[in-house]
Amino acid sequence: MIVAENLVKEFRLAERKPGLAGSLSTLFTRRHRIVRAVDGVSFTIPAGSKTAYIGANGAGKSTTIKMLTGIMTPTSGRCVVRGIEPYRHRQANARGIGVVFGQRSQLWWDLSVPDSFRILRCIYDIPDPVYRRNLALYRELLDIDALGTTPVRQLSLGQRMRAEIAASLLHDPQVVFWDEPTIGLDMVLKDAVRHLVNHVHRELGTTVVLTSHDIADIAAICDSALVVDRGRVVHQGSLRELLHTAGRRCVLFDHRGGPGPGQACADIERGLPGVSASATEDGRIRVDYPAEAFTSRQVLAFLLDHFDLADCYAPEPDLEDVLRRIYAGEHRAPATADAPGARREGAV
Ligand SMILES: Nc1ncnc2c1ncn2[C@@H]1O[C@H](COP(=O)(O)OP(=O)(O)OP(=O)(O)O)[C@@H](O)[C@H]1O
Ligand SMILES: [Mg+2]
Repeated sequence: MIVAENLVKEFRLAERKPGLAGSLSTLFTRRHRIVRAVDGVSFTIPAGSKTAYIGANGAGKSTTIKMLTGIMTPTSGRCVVRGIEPYRHRQANARGIGVVFGQRSQLWWDLSVPDSFRILRCIYDIPDPVYRRNLALYRELLDIDALGTTPVRQLSLGQRMRAEIAASLLHDPQVVFWDEPTIGLDMVLKDAVRHLVNHVHRELGTTVVLTSHDIADIAAICDSALVVDRGRVVHQGSLRELLHTAGRRCVLFDHRGGPGPGQACADIERGLPGVSASATEDGRIRVDYPAEAFTSRQVLAFLLDHFDLADCYAPEPDLEDVLRRIYAGEHRAPATADAPGARREGAV
């Protein structure tokens, strides 16, 4: 449904020297620097999936989404959405997709939300029953009527985002690209938006591509994850896989008899090099281990072999922790084995 093949986007930036003299000299001797925002990204997003497009600030997410939505043309490589290259067939592409850029409005600033919706209805030629069904849904979930006839420019960020989200779904698009759609929304509205997109996905099989720095958005909406780091894809697969291969896992246990806590921790760390063991305040022993080095089966087998376990507990891995490690460069998923590290930059 959505395919990117070796997608590259470079920006040419004028180099500025500091100070007034520097600014003046820039007028005469222009040096440029190339920033490679997207560095040979390839992926396939299946129809009907809900994919989180994840990466640290500046990783190239918005730039990729701009190419997928036809707003930007790649420097090289290509992408195909619903069988067409978006930047070559912008109109045809726009008919089948819905877009939200949290950082930038897609609405008409001088018009009210109801007027904007009426224009969208004409542009997309939305059938009456679809239009009425969707408006009823937005009334129920997003309290869209409360926005009244205020021009979009005078709405608060959260009010505008509600309108943006509704507008992106009004024509029942097959694919939605949501780039930080919950910016500025309070907790209740975030919940409503998550509910809305899951409802639309269930009813219409919509393909969802979402970027968000809110982990709760990702956990509540997405089943798959595409992780980019410095312009390259570092993980693609189910969210579950990401959690279970990239995280630090942990097991907590109580045991009967045997060595005291200090000795038990030392035994575990010696027996399983790479794990760290510590005694918790409530008298348990906590074993932290990197999921890429050990399976939970290996760790449990060791504990069963060496201790008389009274109780054992393994909390779910934490997505925030996984992403923090990826962003900090501590974890490299298998897909990165051949990926060069930093984004390429060079003077021209
Ligand atoms: N129009 C532009 N001109 C020059 N450089 C740009 C432009 N747009 C983006 N960049 C650069 O490309 C890189 C990737 O930017 P992008 O906005 O795609 O990141 P992002 O992953 O969406 O980050 P964030 O999480 O902060 O939204 C950054 O280094 C940014 O400065
Ligand atoms: Mg962005």
